[in-house]
Amino acid sequence: MSKIAVVGAGVMGSAIVASLIREKIFTPAEVIAVDVNCRKLSVLKKKFKIKTENSISDAATKVDVILLAVKPQSLESLCENFSTDKLVISILAGTRVAKLKQLTGSAKIVRVMPNTPAAVGCGISGWHASRQVAKNEKVLVRQILESFGEQAEFKNEKMLDAVTAISGSGPAYFFAFAEALEKAARKMGLGKNAAAFVGQTFFGAAKLADISEIPFAKLRENVTSKGGTTAAALAVFEKAGLTKIVEHATLAAKKRAEELANGK
Ligand SMILES: NC(=O)c1ccc[n+]([C@@H]2O[C@H](COP(=O)([O-])OP(=O)(O)OC[C@H]3O[C@@H](n4cnc5c(N)ncnc54)[C@H](OP(=O)(O)O)[C@@H]3O)[C@@H](O)[C@H]2O)c1
Repeated sequence: MSKIAVVGAGVMGSAIVASLIREKIFTPAEVIAVDVNCRKLSVLKKKFKIKTENSISDAATKVDVILLAVKPQSLESLCENFSTDKLVISILAGTRVAKLKQLTGSAKIVRVMPNTPAAVGCGISGWHASRQVAKNEKVLVRQILESFGEQAEFKNEKMLDAVTAISGSGPAYFFAFAEALEKAARKMGLGKNAAAFVGQTFFGAAKLADISEIPFAKLRENVTSKGGTTAAALAVFEKAGLTKIVEHATLAAKKRAEELANGK
């Protein structure tokens, strides 16, 4: 059985360790968490009974897979005096395969764009693998990514900029809309109930879409009767150009993802 080092025990790294153990992709004995922060490591060690290391070089010799979950700006210092030929999976935003190859020394790179719902096992990850990643390694990559949600492989690395703009940043779009709806609910006098009514509406709508598998347009139609309340609200969104606004916003996110990947 493979062993994995999760490098960076922060928000995402800790969530990934939790998913790997919960879904039994690896046993605790097969997981090493690596971080410069001993306090974060001792929390993980206590909670999941995994092994820990302070140095990526020490961990790398003991595993088959290295999963990088540090901030992109920490990558260069992390990889100083480090080189490996192991499979490297990176979740670093905007860090291209070419750069990961150059800094880690490995030709076997999988670049992943996950999102924060991964923390509750409901993420979605887009990923791209360098051509040196073998078929059996891709099977393991899918198992790892599916431990915290859904996944899809993209043959063209550039598609990860689009994935970033849709699902990477996407949770924030929903939170922004929820925030606006909560403010509107307060103005209508819902007071302390506002957040619960908005939150449960989002949760219920998402669950309905997920379980029913009905297309979004049809689900919207199902709540909208002619001349009714929903139609009145949707007409306001339509007049304000909601579809165009979303298109422009996601294009801005995609452009920024491209700029960041080009070091701007
Ligand atoms: N959070 C998101 O929404 C999200 C979504 C998709 C992708 N990502 C990507 O996920 C990655 C991790 O994000 P995060 O929010 O989990 O970051 P985070 O909470 O800051 O975690 C990064 C961890 O890495 C540690 N670290 C820094 N330098 C290190 C080194 N040289 N060796 C070992 N550990 C080191 C940090 O320690 P210190 O705190 O002591 O510096 C920290 O514990 C980022 O690259 C981000 O682009 C994040």
